[in-house]
Amino acid sequence: MASAQTRLCGLLVMLVGSRKKACSPDPAISIYSISDMYRDKTCGELRLTDAGQTVKIAGWVQRSRKMGGMTFVDVRDRYGITQVVFDSYHEDNALFDAANSLGREFVVQITGKVAERTSKNKNIPTGDIEIIAESLKVLNKSEIPPFTIEDKTDGGDDLRMKYRYLDLRRPSVRSNLELRHKMAFEIRRYLDSKGFLEIETPILVKSTPEGARDFVVPSRMNPGEFYALPQSPQLFKQLLMISGFDRYFQIAKCFRDEDLRADRQPEFTQIDCEMSFVEQEDVIDMFEGLVKHIFKYVKGIDFSEPFPRMTWNDAMSLYGSDKPDIRFGMPFVELTDLVKGKGFAVMDDAEITVGINASGCAAYTRKQIDELTEFVKRPQVGAKGLVWVKVEPDGSFKSSVNKFFQPEELQKWAERMDAKPGDLLLIMSGDKMKTRKQLCELRLEMGNRLGLRDRNQFAPLWVIDFPLFEWDEETQRYYAMHHPFTSPNPDDIDKLRTDTGNVRATAYDIIVNGTELGGGSIRIHDAALQDEMFELLGFTPERAKEQFGFLMNAFKFGAPPHGGLALGFDRFVSILAGLDTIRDVIAFPKNNSGRDVMNESPSPIEQTQLDELKLELRPDKE
Ligand code: AMO
Repeated sequence: MASAQTRLCGLLVMLVGSRKKACSPDPAISIYSISDMYRDKTCGELRLTDAGQTVKIAGWVQRSRKMGGMTFVDVRDRYGITQVVFDSYHEDNALFDAANSLGREFVVQITGKVAERTSKNKNIPTGDIEIIAESLKVLNKSEIPPFTIEDKTDGGDDLRMKYRYLDLRRPSVRSNLELRHKMAFEIRRYLDSKGFLEIETPILVKSTPEGARDFVVPSRMNPGEFYALPQSPQLFKQLLMISGFDRYFQIAKCFRDEDLRADRQPEFTQIDCEMSFVEQEDVIDMFEGLVKHIFKYVKGIDFSEPFPRMTWNDAMSLYGSDKPDIRFGMPFVELTDLVKGKGFAVMDDAEITVGINASGCAAYTRKQIDELTEFVKRPQVGAKGLVWVKVEPDGSFKSSVNKFFQPEELQKWAERMDAKPGDLLLIMSGDKMKTRKQLCELRLEMGNRLGLRDRNQFAPLWVIDFPLFEWDEETQRYYAMHHPFTSPNPDDIDKLRTDTGNVRATAYDIIVNGTELGGGSIRIHDAALQDEMFELLGFTPERAKEQFGFLMNAFKFGAPPHGGLALGFDRFVSILAGLDTIRDVIAFPKNNSGRDVMNESPSPIEQTQLDELKLELRPDKE
């Protein structure tokens, strides 16, 4: 389906970190031939070769223009726009009058003859022709729409969401959903060809611990009891492995009550997969294959090399993130040992001092550096300040810490950071994890400022060897970093009790351009090890039984070794469409407060419904 051009671009394979220009998104719109009672051609279909034919189209009035004795009406449907001409000299004057009374978004049916246009429109595929109208039927009128239904609309976000059904008429939004459909279709086809069965799992479930809050649903038939909506089908897919379905997938709706961001919605879709008799390498192989296939299918891009892999430890120490954007370099360099003991309290008291080399940025003005300092001090980043060192063209140093460090000392920093004249070093100090996260934000900001995060360039990688546990200071206990069913790395099992925090998981995430596209793990399939895991996570045997008794029981009946992964489908589509938010690839998304402003949900329910559910609302507490 990729055009010759995209295929050609695909041959200019994008290597990770390469700066070659990739192809522009091709949403792969097909030309369909449609013949219904109301129309025999679509508005995207007619070409010069159709000139002379009498055709019938139906669609919405995009706009109309009266020019002298002619009225031009652009008619739009899902497939495109076709210009229709109404002529005042036509024997039927009523037809011309009817055309002049058409408003935006009226639904019309038009019959007429296809003719070559005198002034062609090279911007649309139907731009060589027009239809000379012979009859017009208004199938429905429309109120004046609240915003213009064009790609460059005057409607703000809230207004478009309130009238999302109109927003979806805009070609750019529509093409996102077309791409989503094509991808879902191709993913299904690919996985089917590899022997995967798509099996649906329930939506009303028992709470599964994936780390977010559950959405809960009260049960009328079991008053006082609740279902949860699945955060993912995790336990069901493991049970399906025990049932012998050795290759499962599902394009599954998942629900998580968590703070929303550009790449998070409360309900979203996963390409959820599980396989039996596999090790990490098998799973990575299979889904790297799927991701590569989809890149090729949608963008014409060939990734001929295996995706690079990075351990979690390296990702954190080189990029301060478990989802590094490796479209550009600028890795972290630690300076802790070089900076301590020189009387600069910020660095003396810090657990870590770490910096990045913004190559070629020594010419930054005071104002630009102040902006960067303000950037890291924003509450979202949370740093106290930023140290900078400029390597001047003559090799001398200008810095914000001249008072504390001699040029010979700064020279050592520069050497370690591989700095040349013209480079700008940006350095932060503090608590290890926090400082790394803050510097990660700054690195991404520099990437943006320097235009190094080209959305047409794709840099996938696997992050592996995640820690099995994460220590939480507040509750003073360990949590599973992935989920409690993730298997420890077999080489680390003897450390489970003695060096818990350093046990590695057999877990892997796939990252594209700094976004976590998917994640998974090899699961524990041994009941005794799973019991031990629950214990380490602070579950009493009673609570573990109450929450996961059914899974533990199933494990007693011959659970095969198994593992899997889930790709975020909304994220996958939005990455390939080059979008900033997954909202644009969801037909009816929620806003940042989790509301659907179109149907005004969530909303109160009737007292009778509450009574049936035996629920009582607590009055608002001040
Ligand atoms: P995980 O929680 O990592 O793993 O989710 C898998 C992928 O789902 C996507 N994702 C989301 N997308 C949009 N909005 C959200 N709120 C959201 N949350 C997650 C991400 C993520 O990588 N059961 C495991 C998978 C497994 O172990 O097989 C799971 O759900 O792209």
